[in-house]
Amino acid sequence: MTTTLQVEERDDRVVVTLSRPEARNAINAAMVRELHDVCALLEERPRLLLLTGDSGTFAAGADIAELRERGREQALQGINSRVFDRIARLPLPTVAAVDGYALGGGAELAYACDVRLASPSAVFGNPEPGLGILAAAGACWRLRELVGASVAKQVLLAGRRLDADDAFRLGLVAEVVPAGDLLKRAHALLDRMARSGPLALRLTKLVADAPGGHPVTDDLAQAILFESDDKRSRMDAFLAGERR
Ligand code: COA
Repeated sequence: MTTTLQVEERDDRVVVTLSRPEARNAINAAMVRELHDVCALLEERPRLLLLTGDSGTFAAGADIAELRERGREQALQGINSRVFDRIARLPLPTVAAVDGYALGGGAELAYACDVRLASPSAVFGNPEPGLGILAAAGACWRLRELVGASVAKQVLLAGRRLDADDAFRLGLVAEVVPAGDLLKRAHALLDRMARSGPLALRLTKLVADAPGGHPVTDDLAQAILFESDDKRSRMDAFLAGERR
């Protein structure tokens, strides 16, 4: 039973909709708990993840009423950073479909996904310093990896908001799609991913995210895949003229 998320389980994917429309889907402790439950589900039985938000907003940040009451102890627990890291490390690819605001922790949640799609009304930003805190759940390093230090610092230090066009131009989002088609397009992207060998996809993600392990990691992962029946049957199919 979830109170802040709508969770739809399918055979090859799980669709999660952040759903606290009365608070613009702000990420509170209950949502963090429920996102951890989703992670447990996907770690136990790896599937693709589609993450989106309800009612024309992705997420307007961490819940400011809760943040206001948190102290040093809670900051050190990394309440949001841990769940976002767990999402980033999910075995199979994750896609964020961002309609409307993705601010603060909401932006960081989107940054933690593997691929982002946006509607024309998407807005990414990290206004944390304006609230007297820093964006401590990934923006200070993930955003830099995604768009480079110069733009990341404009967002983090100068309150720059990236609209959908900016986000597309900077490569932060893969595509800008009318809001009404956003989920359909995200599912089509997941369909494309689902046609790949699941172990190949999983090891590619692991190796792509591996910190400085290359090329040893790549060779080890390839060694596993070279022995797989899936590889043999996919290559046999190609050589027999089948195209997927
Ligand atoms: N935490 C808690 N509540 C939030 C919230 C957040 N991050 N963002 C929005 N809400 C609540 C508002 O307090 C308001 O509640 P109320 O109806 O009880 O007054 C409700 O959601 C609607 O917000 P409102 O500001 O009226 O909506 P809007 O459409 O005019 O503006 C935003 C939307 C996203 C621009 C605006 O809500 C906003 O700036 N939110 C905070 C963004 C932020 O600083 N995030 C970083 C947090 S670390």
